[in-house]
Amino acid sequence: MKLCVISGDGIGPEVIDAALQVLHALSPELKIETVIAQAGWDTFQATGSALPDTTRALAEAADAVLFGAVASPSHAVPGYQSPIVALRRALDLYANIRPTTNTGLPAASGQPPVDLVVVRENTEGLYAGRERLTDDGHTAIAERVITRRGSERIVRRACELAMQRGQRTGTAPKVTIVHKANVLRVSDGLFRTVALEVAQQYPALTIEELLVDTAAMHLAQAPQRFDVIVTTNMFGDILSDIACIHGGGLGLASSANIGERQALFEPVHGAAPDIAGRGIANPLAAIQCVALLLEWAATRPEHAEAQRIVYDQWAQRLRAAIATTLCNGPHTPDMGGTATTAEVTTAIIEHV
Ligand code: NAI
Ligand code: MG
Repeated sequence: MKLCVISGDGIGPEVIDAALQVLHALSPELKIETVIAQAGWDTFQATGSALPDTTRALAEAADAVLFGAVASPSHAVPGYQSPIVALRRALDLYANIRPTTNTGLPAASGQPPVDLVVVRENTEGLYAGRERLTDDGHTAIAERVITRRGSERIVRRACELAMQRGQRTGTAPKVTIVHKANVLRVSDGLFRTVALEVAQQYPALTIEELLVDTAAMHLAQAPQRFDVIVTTNMFGDILSDIACIHGGGLGLASSANIGERQALFEPVHGAAPDIAGRGIANPLAAIQCVALLLEWAATRPEHAEAQRIVYDQWAQRLRAAIATTLCNGPHTPDMGGTATTAEVTTAIIEHV
């Protein structure tokens, strides 16, 4: 399997270096060949492009991408475009899967279990990149693109995932469709209609719908009530950050961006300029991306059955090592500890 590694800016290189150390410590049986590529703000300043053609080509030629974080300025910079948003679209990675659980977190002991996944549409909505200023410069307009095709495939993905989770845990699976169709009548109206159509094809699922603001309140207050949440691009971006609080915060939140043929794995967090270069970034979100990568590889039809078993076994071993480290430490400062990125990484490798 070919893995393109893009570490990016800020703490991106620190946490991706940790993830690669772990990956290389696992087993040569995994047969993963890594190729390094550049993207982000530093790359933009050096080359004039945040996502150079060579990087795009390496990502397109790979089976999967491991992505750190990039520092995108919040003001407009001519020629700068967020490379992660561009990559998701270039590789048509339409499903952003963001799991959150508090299982095994020391701080969550005695709390009701949270185990939910936000499935976020990843290629359209308000992040379709259709923004403009009127000629007088006094009005800014962003177009929100919702298509039947985009809605159908993301909701199908969410329903399939809920079915798999139900089979694994033996509990009744539920999908919550989140929208704002009472205000965004046309765009979220279409998303809602298509979502309910698709969901009907899964009679074993409990289906509910929530308006996004109500969903945000429930996510903050009663996350145990959720199983799989499916929503449009920006709502999913925001809701998944709320959800990740219950899973120990941004330092532990990982995500998979999945298309038909390829996938990209990345921590949910950004470049964290406030702690970059100090060696204290929590590497667990990036290390969990390696587990997500192996779990994804274990489902891919292009790998022989025996190889899929190898991926699955090493994913489980890595999950166990992460669980032990979560429980016993060492922990970085964001989790209340005093350990460095390197100390946590070494502990994971020892446990594996
Ligand atoms: P951020 O996620 O970088 O940081 C938010 C807060 O969480 C900071 O206090 C940071 O120190 C902390 N944090 C994040 N990851 C951590 C980790 N692994 N261990 C310990 N603490 C951690 O979000 P922020 O500050 O809003 O954005 C900073 C830059 O990152 C911006 O330029 C933004 O555009 C970019 N960004 C990039 C993303 C990506 O590449 N996918 C996602 C989000 C933001
Ligand atoms: Mg985000």
